[in-house]
Amino acid sequence: MSEKEPIGVIGVGWVGLVTATCFAELGHEIYCRDIDSAKIGLLERGEVPIHEPGLKELLERNSDRIHFSIEMGDVLANAKLLFVCVDTPPTYSGDADLSRIDAVVSELETERGHALVMKSTVPVGTGRAVERRLAEAGKQIAYVSNPEFLKEGSAVEDFMNPDRVVIGGDPGSEECAADAVAKLYEPIGCPIVRTDVASAEMIKLASNAFLATKISFINEIANVCEEVEADVAEVAIGMGLDERIGPKFLSAGIGYGGSCFPKDVSALKQLAGNSGYHFQLLHSVIEVNELQKRRVVRKLKKHLGSLVGKRIALLGLAFKPHTDDMREASSLVLAARLQGEGAHVCAYDPVAENRAQELLAGTQICDTAINAVEGADAAVIVTEWPEFGELPLGEISEKMNNPLIIDGRNMLDREAVRDAGITYEGIGR
Ligand code: UDX
Repeated sequence: MSEKEPIGVIGVGWVGLVTATCFAELGHEIYCRDIDSAKIGLLERGEVPIHEPGLKELLERNSDRIHFSIEMGDVLANAKLLFVCVDTPPTYSGDADLSRIDAVVSELETERGHALVMKSTVPVGTGRAVERRLAEAGKQIAYVSNPEFLKEGSAVEDFMNPDRVVIGGDPGSEECAADAVAKLYEPIGCPIVRTDVASAEMIKLASNAFLATKISFINEIANVCEEVEADVAEVAIGMGLDERIGPKFLSAGIGYGGSCFPKDVSALKQLAGNSGYHFQLLHSVIEVNELQKRRVVRKLKKHLGSLVGKRIALLGLAFKPHTDDMREASSLVLAARLQGEGAHVCAYDPVAENRAQELLAGTQICDTAINAVEGADAAVIVTEWPEFGELPLGEISEKMNNPLIIDGRNMLDREAVRDAGITYEGIGR
């Protein structure tokens, strides 16, 4: 048995599983609980239900230290620090759905002096509300906010080498719980930002909203570049060298997606609205992102006229490379819009094939990029998978009915595409 503090992880979705595995790698005994018995069964057999680089190997290496159960009692009996990693999806109103967190709080027992460490992204004020609820119920449970900043596709690396760790605890008994959480991250050796609970919650929402704003900003610059014949890729390089701006998150494309940005921007906008403040900028960030996904349809029509009966190939379906996650992916909106225009949509993704079969009714899922583009009137790069940079352009040119590529992620070498006899159009170039 390890001498390090045992850790409970409640909810082993993507965040929970990465958190559990990485803390196990740091030498802790981990007790995981999820209400999904099928998932727990899978994990007990050593299978990993998500595609995340390095996770399977790390899980195998630490399998002796990670225990899975569907019973909350197994976690409560073995660990004091309980990392809550349940999902908080958006409701129809755009507010975060906190029902899974409510359910966890309802299940907590009283007597063992546990600390609830919130990793799930929650509206500002959730921590204080939970603290109040626990206090009113007479439960001696500390509350700590420890938001996650993991990126899908590099989550293990992000966990082990974060830019910062944020730990929020309010004055009182929580302070020592926050100290205990800070101690867990000491071996990682990164800056640790200690705040009150509400500020920690806001750091998470504001960070994601700011990054989404950066993307919508560069996407609008791209749209203007198209009008004035400037090249957004060059503009981004010139802007990014200014240290105050920085080069990251300045890639123009067909919009951001994923499980976090759309949800968190919307949650912050709603939070502001619910407290009487109209967050003008975030309304625009969301609107720009929605319109950006649809601009591809306009580009296709410019080249092809009506899309009725046209065969359009989508290359990449995941919301970004190195993941099979299609939540809020631009591909979903695009496929639906193209079908609405009467096009026949065929698609290929290196890893999201199974998810795509479930999510994209009416779209023909192909097993290679070449099969997807065969006979197509246009191909659209939706996700910047590195393998699309190596496409055999000569073969593609021959196989397409009409050689046209819309590069939704500005990843291809324009000249090479044109040299192969393919019409090229990027975003803002
Ligand atoms: C994000 C945050 O980065 C992370 O800190 C948080 O914890 C969860 O949300 P993730 O959803 O994994 O992580 O994706 P990220 O790599 O940040 O990209 C989000 C979206 O923005 C993707 O759809 C990506 O294609 C898009 N994007 C990103 C751009 O369109 N342009 C860019 O320059 C960068």
